[in-house]
Amino acid sequence: MGAAQLSEVLRHLAKTNNPGLLLGFETGDDAGLFELPGGLVLVQTVDFFTPIVDDPYAFGAIAAANALSDIYAMGGKPLTALNIAAFNMDLAPPEVWARVLQGAQEKVEEAGAVVVGGHTVEDAQPKFGVAVTGILQQGASLRNDTAQPGQQLYLTKPLGTGILTTAAKRDLLGAGELQEAIESMSRLNREAAEVAILEGVTCGTDVTGFGLAGHAWNIARNSQVRIVIEASAVPLLSRTVELAEKGVATGGAKKTRDFLSENLVFMDSAPGWAEAIFTDPQTSGGLLLAAPAYSLGVRIGWVEAGSPAVVIR
Ligand code: CO
Ligand code: CO
Repeated sequence: MGAAQLSEVLRHLAKTNNPGLLLGFETGDDAGLFELPGGLVLVQTVDFFTPIVDDPYAFGAIAAANALSDIYAMGGKPLTALNIAAFNMDLAPPEVWARVLQGAQEKVEEAGAVVVGGHTVEDAQPKFGVAVTGILQQGASLRNDTAQPGQQLYLTKPLGTGILTTAAKRDLLGAGELQEAIESMSRLNREAAEVAILEGVTCGTDVTGFGLAGHAWNIARNSQVRIVIEASAVPLLSRTVELAEKGVATGGAKKTRDFLSENLVFMDSAPGWAEAIFTDPQTSGGLLLAAPAYSLGVRIGWVEAGSPAVVIR
């Protein structure tokens, strides 16, 4: 769902005043934070979607890495996971759906967490995802409302997964050409998050459905800062520029562009592909961090004082 539609829906909900709730959905952050007795904080998130790759094992692994990423994007450590599955038994036999679960389970175990259960329904349109619970220490989290002018902006994975998976569905990619994107989407943001917390970073999110520009805007709006991105510094998956220039795009990119409206500014120096690629929805994208310094990832821009905006140059 686009950001505009989602805020329309959430607008109708009453505010909660539970004293344990440290972070709810108002700032559109990556996960909810709930304080437990003793200074420990519970981190909870859920995500699920339709298959984005043909290989069922890879789909399960990507869905799990993507869900786990929202725990890492808060600076948390994942502990337990619940599968959420809609399978179509007319489309594929049980062993295919078992591969989805296996891919997810092995990824959850790689993260040092454990699958404790789940729920499966039958549905014509298959979907799969994971709800993850983690923990963090009070005060050691990565939020999207703590960026400060003068900080640098870092990204830990290349962009292009929306454009590339769309191209693969249209048979515009050769055999094996999606492999780089699959490996990137399957990779955990674990080390990126652990290093960020160790280095004292407090501002971060992960780049997912609203693209680099949309998630940078979440930081800009919630921190009341201006974010400048140097387009030529942003890491991209192979063939992303070429496919974007051919017009390969998802519907989500346009929704994000419309939603950001005048809050997303392109300077004359920005390359022609910047709009398409920076609004491209990412699955299991990298961490986007604002900090004085960070030893992993690629430095892609900086944070300035000024009315909230994302500026591409
Ligand atoms: Co997120
Ligand atoms: Co999220």
